[in-house]
Amino acid sequence: MTDIGKKTAVITGAAGGIGQAISRQFVANGYRVVAGDADQAGLDRIEAELNRTGQIVWSRAGDLSNKAYCEELIDYSIRATGRLDVLVNNAGIITRGNILETTDEHWERTFDINLTAIFYTCRKAIGHMKNHGGGAIVNVSSCWGLYPGPGHAAYCSSKAAVAAFSKCLGRDHAPDGIRVNAVCPNEVNTPMIRTGFERRGFIPDTAIAELNKTVPLGRIAEPEDIADVVFFLCSDAARYIAGTAVEVNGAKPVY
Ligand SMILES: NC(=O)c1ccc[n+]([C@@H]2O[C@H](COP(=O)([O-])OP(=O)(O)OC[C@H]3O[C@@H](n4cnc5c(N)ncnc54)[C@H](O)[C@@H]3O)[C@@H](O)[C@H]2O)c1
Repeated sequence: MTDIGKKTAVITGAAGGIGQAISRQFVANGYRVVAGDADQAGLDRIEAELNRTGQIVWSRAGDLSNKAYCEELIDYSIRATGRLDVLVNNAGIITRGNILETTDEHWERTFDINLTAIFYTCRKAIGHMKNHGGGAIVNVSSCWGLYPGPGHAAYCSSKAAVAAFSKCLGRDHAPDGIRVNAVCPNEVNTPMIRTGFERRGFIPDTAIAELNKTVPLGRIAEPEDIADVVFFLCSDAARYIAGTAVEVNGAKPVY
């Protein structure tokens, strides 16, 4: 355990597009980061990159559909760094299909990773934060959770639940000094959206150039656009914001 004065942020999905940007943002602002993801090689890469900045980053690979991993990630942060100030539940999967195309397994896996994992990490984190001066939690939902788009029944439902869950926790634990909020991006230029295009036979760069034309601000989001909002919500500048779901959408509606 080193440098007890520094704040610690646990970030899930840290090897993914938005998760890497969030991790860089917290490290750049002097936080110690505990990074979680199922992708061990991706975690190793972001850990090595961030450690080159002189900060220490801890990582723990595992599957968030496993309750023991969710709880261990929080325990590990407290063991390794001595504290837990911020939790960013960013990991998620996108499951495509209407209800007739959604198997039991798709449905259960979507909810296990997108919602139930957050229940486990938040319960563990809030138990600790409540007794140690509070903290901040951001859960990454989606505009598609607030205004469901077509053909993604499981994904949209799970993200709607993440937004509602975050508002519930925000209300319940504001008196404990714990601010809980959700962030709801629309389309973001990450592997999640690019692999979706590839699977459907499109060239990702071309498809994104087309998508950019549909956004009033002129382009879909880059991961840093989301990371900045996540960091803001966890910072003291957002000290009066709790129990909200913040849309980060370039003014683009869901249709
Ligand atoms: N990209 C978008 O357009 C978009 C839009 C709205 C919301 N979001 C949300 O933003 C978050 C981050 O998405 P992204 O675009 O960076 O996607 P991404 O696919 O680049 O990253 C997601 C990360 O989560 C990890 N992950 C997935 N399942 C896991 C599991 N079972 N255990 C541990 N880790 C697991 C993956 O390994 C990956 O590194 C997600 O919750 C996603 O739903 C993304």
